[in-house]
Amino acid sequence: MTDDLYWDPFDAVIDIDPHPLWRRIRDEQPVYRNDKFGFVALSRHADVDAGLMDTTTYSSAHGTVLELMTPEPMKTGHIIFMDPPAQTTLRVLVSRAFTPRRIAALEEHIRALCAELLDPRTGSGGFDYVRDFAAQLPSLVISQLMGVDPADREEIHRTIERTFHLEEGKGMVNDISLAAQIKLHTYFAEQIDARRDSPRDDMMTSLVQAEVTTDEGTRRLSTSEAANFANLLVSAGTETTGRLIGWAGALLAAHPGQRAELAADPSLIANAVEETLRYEAPSPAQGRVSTRDVEIHGTAIPAGSKILLLTGSAGRDERKYPDPDRYDIHRRFDSHVSFGRGAHFCLGAALARLEARVALEETLRRFPTWDVDHDRAVRLHSSTVRGYAELPIRL
Ligand code: HEM
Repeated sequence: MTDDLYWDPFDAVIDIDPHPLWRRIRDEQPVYRNDKFGFVALSRHADVDAGLMDTTTYSSAHGTVLELMTPEPMKTGHIIFMDPPAQTTLRVLVSRAFTPRRIAALEEHIRALCAELLDPRTGSGGFDYVRDFAAQLPSLVISQLMGVDPADREEIHRTIERTFHLEEGKGMVNDISLAAQIKLHTYFAEQIDARRDSPRDDMMTSLVQAEVTTDEGTRRLSTSEAANFANLLVSAGTETTGRLIGWAGALLAAHPGQRAELAADPSLIANAVEETLRYEAPSPAQGRVSTRDVEIHGTAIPAGSKILLLTGSAGRDERKYPDPDRYDIHRRFDSHVSFGRGAHFCLGAALARLEARVALEETLRRFPTWDVDHDRAVRLHSSTVRGYAELPIRL
């Protein structure tokens, strides 16, 4: 009997703990149809994984966020809303700027930023682990990665925060957020143009210098394309990473024994980050539009359907992970889909992993124990991320 099975992705109450419902969906309706919002959800790990890998059948070009998806392909120029082969060319270009060397070089800077944010809290009774720390760090790191001048740092940080402004009933699409996105784009475009004449050792310079040769000739990014990409990095890399670090803060408080192990042996932290990603995916749903009729588990999905690939459910699929609802920092697993898979695999995964690891190392070094004040914690539920907006902790 599955008639009562109903999942509303916009319901903030369901979103507090969707896992029991997702488990039923995986078991009872692995091809789940929601007629009210007109989408089909795939929830089992194997189906989500296959969907992410098959960009021919499941297109990103109509948008990947449910309420922003369009019947016709979008022409935003954002890599995340494109399909191969155009997406591949752009990805090769931006990857030239997003090098492992540049990411690894950020470690000491990230550590210094953690100290700047955490040191003033030493000796205090507590602070808001997300608002005062986890949500601050990623935007400061992205500014550094791009090469924002120290003099502009505070202003850019505040502008980035405004791009995430949410409004009741309007969600992510509102005047404050739009104005901030335009301001950021203008800033990045001016800075990128300036780099053409005076190159520096930063990502904005690399973005305009990178070249790729295809059958159609040699291609470089225009200033507007490079600024577009900078804006995408801000939107893809800030909210998600803030949620990941926030989840770790909450989960480690709920598992004090495991937290003590991490404090005693920081080499365990990298695996704890992977387990946190699996257990509570910060970006739990990736949207696609099907380009042809398909049949999955005996259910027909017509071409042109909106599909949600539930990466958040895939991480808890017992078909893939034994005892999946147990949080275990020692768990060994070969992969998870919380950073996506295949063509669109998160370009910032190495950076997010580095930020989360350093953030936890620096937290545990100063504060080996804390309690969460759950009565005052506030959840953040947007169409792209799931986690905490505020997480007051007592030291
Ligand atoms: C915990 C943090 C993060 C999570 C959970 C996350 C998750 C994801 C996921 C699931 C995708 C695939 C989307 C899809 O298949 O449609 C993705 C793509 C992407 N992410 Fe992340 N991300 C994180 C951090 C970052 C950071 C720090 C950056 C950059 C600074 C970043 C930049 C990107 C970009 C540019 C793409 C698009 C790649 C493409 O379309 O080829 N992400 N991310």
